[in-house]
Amino acid sequence: MTNITYVEASGQATTVSLPDGWNLMQGAIANGIEGILGECGGSCACATCHCYVDEARLGDLPPPSENELDMLANVAAERRPNSRLACQIKASPLLEGLMLQLPETQE
Ligand code: FES
Repeated sequence: MTNITYVEASGQATTVSLPDGWNLMQGAIANGIEGILGECGGSCACATCHCYVDEARLGDLPPPSENELDMLANVAAERRPNSRLACQIKASPLLEGLMLQLPETQE
């Protein structure tokens, strides 16, 4: 299990414990976190799971695929250097304690 903290645009922070291998969009939806839609179900085709990864931890994540980079060009909120798609990040011990800031809008 890996603890992930989601910080909604309102500032509400929620820490949840996810089974390793779950993607972080799936973890948000399963735990009622607002601010992630995940409309495509995690197939990297909608960009409604946009999040901002704690910059200090960016190096702990595998780099985004070409497909993810293409989808990040279509996010509704401001794209930042630490923008990622939550469905493309899998919970693992390396990500223990990771914090994700959620944007104000996903559509
Ligand atoms: S859920 Fe659609 S791109 Fe992540």
